[in-house]
Amino acid sequence: MSVVRGVDRVLFGGDYNPEQWPEHVWHDDARLMAIAGVNTVTLGVFSWSSIEPREGEYDFGWLDRVIDLMHAHGIGVVLATPTASPPPWFTKAHPEALNRTADGVQLVHGSRDVYDPSADAYRAAARRVATALGERYGRHEAVVAWHVHNEYGSVSYGPATDRRFREWLRARYGDLGRLNEAWWSAFWSQRYAEWDEILAPQATQYLPNPTQMLDFRRFSAEVLLECYREQAEILRALSPDVPLTTNFMLPTWLHFDHWDFGAEVDFVSIDHYSDSPGVEGAAHAAFGADQARSFARGRPWLLMEQGANVTQVPGRMLVKEPGEVIRTSLQHVARGSDGALFFQWRAPLAGAEVFHSSMVPHSGPDSRAFREMTELGRVLGRLTDVVAPPEGSDARVVTPRVAIAWEPDSWWALESASLPSDHFSLLASVRRAHRELWFAGVSADLVRLDDDPAALDAYDLLLVPSQLLATDEQAAGLDAWVRRGGHAVVWCFSGTVDADLHVRPGGYSGAFAETLGIRVEEPHPLPKGVAIAIEGGGSAHDWTEHVELRGASVVTRYAEGVLSGEPAITENRRGDGVATYVSAELDDATFTTVVTSALAAAGVRAEAPGAGGGVEVVRRHAGSGVVVAAINHTAETRTVTLRGTPIDLEGGADGADGADGPVVDGPVDLAPGAFVFLHEAPSPA
Ligand code: GAL
Repeated sequence: MSVVRGVDRVLFGGDYNPEQWPEHVWHDDARLMAIAGVNTVTLGVFSWSSIEPREGEYDFGWLDRVIDLMHAHGIGVVLATPTASPPPWFTKAHPEALNRTADGVQLVHGSRDVYDPSADAYRAAARRVATALGERYGRHEAVVAWHVHNEYGSVSYGPATDRRFREWLRARYGDLGRLNEAWWSAFWSQRYAEWDEILAPQATQYLPNPTQMLDFRRFSAEVLLECYREQAEILRALSPDVPLTTNFMLPTWLHFDHWDFGAEVDFVSIDHYSDSPGVEGAAHAAFGADQARSFARGRPWLLMEQGANVTQVPGRMLVKEPGEVIRTSLQHVARGSDGALFFQWRAPLAGAEVFHSSMVPHSGPDSRAFREMTELGRVLGRLTDVVAPPEGSDARVVTPRVAIAWEPDSWWALESASLPSDHFSLLASVRRAHRELWFAGVSADLVRLDDDPAALDAYDLLLVPSQLLATDEQAAGLDAWVRRGGHAVVWCFSGTVDADLHVRPGGYSGAFAETLGIRVEEPHPLPKGVAIAIEGGGSAHDWTEHVELRGASVVTRYAEGVLSGEPAITENRRGDGVATYVSAELDDATFTTVVTSALAAAGVRAEAPGAGGGVEVVRRHAGSGVVVAAINHTAETRTVTLRGTPIDLEGGADGADGADGPVVDGPVDLAPGAFVFLHEAPSPA
């Protein structure tokens, strides 16, 4: 069974916005959905003004008819609460509940996401519309999941935010003395004498207080979770059999703690929009998919949105090459998604996202885009077996042996303006590590270090990219795992500050210093564009450090400048494990060497001989077996060694059966863009 209620197929379809169209178009939609093999639509995401045209007055007639139409065609409905886009009446009635920017600008409706998530009136209106939807459709057979809100991510700096921020701070610190200490508020005369002196960090004269900024990020993430919880509580009561999700915008949504959200939804869902074309785009999709699965703690999840072709967002105007959308969808499925859904079904004729691609483009069904959708629907229809949840105690849908540490506190802390270099970005560092693994043919999970220290035992290698902030518990968990035999690679500037953003005195990398067997005495940030040589022909840029050995041995030294002859990369044998430290930002070739050496030392090989360099091989656990996917994203024929029974992907979406097999055991040639799925374990008779 898939992540949604009662569906044991790979979910295929997308956001459907019938409220933008006259009713006769709906019937054409249903006809085309049947042709494409669509089995799932997401309804109502931005329908608030159609559902509740005036405050407290509901119009469900159109929605009743659409849901019934979908149901009659065997299409499951993921029903959204429309709370991401309050209607114009909301602005008029509740101006105090609109969001205010850090510069003090009061926003009004005209786009979407115009509300202050801390405002009581917004919360009440959101609860009301969620209740009305839950009461009306909570037990409707067509509803297979609830899609709460859309891409939580709003942040506001108005009076309602100030009030809730203070409450949150009171709960965190208890008394002002402790807050003043955490915020180091004696600096620049910021000592607070009363709670109501505290404000959200709006625009100010010069550098803001970094701990206040970090706390505000933590608070804003918590507020969004509260908004979700309020609706979840209502829907769980009114619709107890229907699972709940909310779509995460990946991977850049900063005001959001994906781990916390992942623990509360019934299944994780994500929206993924590529940042690059071709093979790099495939690496990015794999990153999004691995993030999603990790935030789902290894369980199956759902790709809720992706672009069918062109994504109409500045900087993301990418055209997908023929076949690319099929390969990308299959990547997500191989990496644990129970479906491939799109934003959106039919292209609107106007509106802010008019040129964003759709499953049915402006040119209509006689188009490459729609033919590819039909082809994708057919292929996904052949992959039903993959949606069986994995059996067994370690029921992870994909089981990588490598993990990358991802900690929102460090993500936020590295956004601070008060750092010795503006070079650092946790997202960029994590992405660089993941990309390197992907090109080596190795899948990875993301982990939060203190989630469950024993969970690290699932991995042989852990990459820790610039985790600036580390708690004592995180450091102890990492150390114990290394001593038990783990291999860790820790990057520069990690472990430098504690949870209050206070520097750990005695040397940078303080939290991890013992594990790494080093002391970082001093950072040596480099001016932009300057690279200094390191032994072995590589170079360092942006950041270097003066590292003192405290038990570790030198792997590579700086070969130039004031640090010439000093350790650049070190290795510390500790207990049964090894901890490597990389004290600089490295050129690409040396970065690759560091990662590939760590993989070799930890005994991790590519998923199959021939995997890597743009050929993706992933094992998905499904039921009691394993389905292996091999996808060639390159423009050349590539050979991978595989073993299993190929799934026939050519049968018709009408269910016409094709025979699986014959069994392969050895090299398989994959033409440019080709893919194959195999049952690794014998198929059930
Ligand atoms: C998503 C969003 C959709 C649509 C899409 C366009 O992030 O959820 O509503 O805006 O982007 O790229």
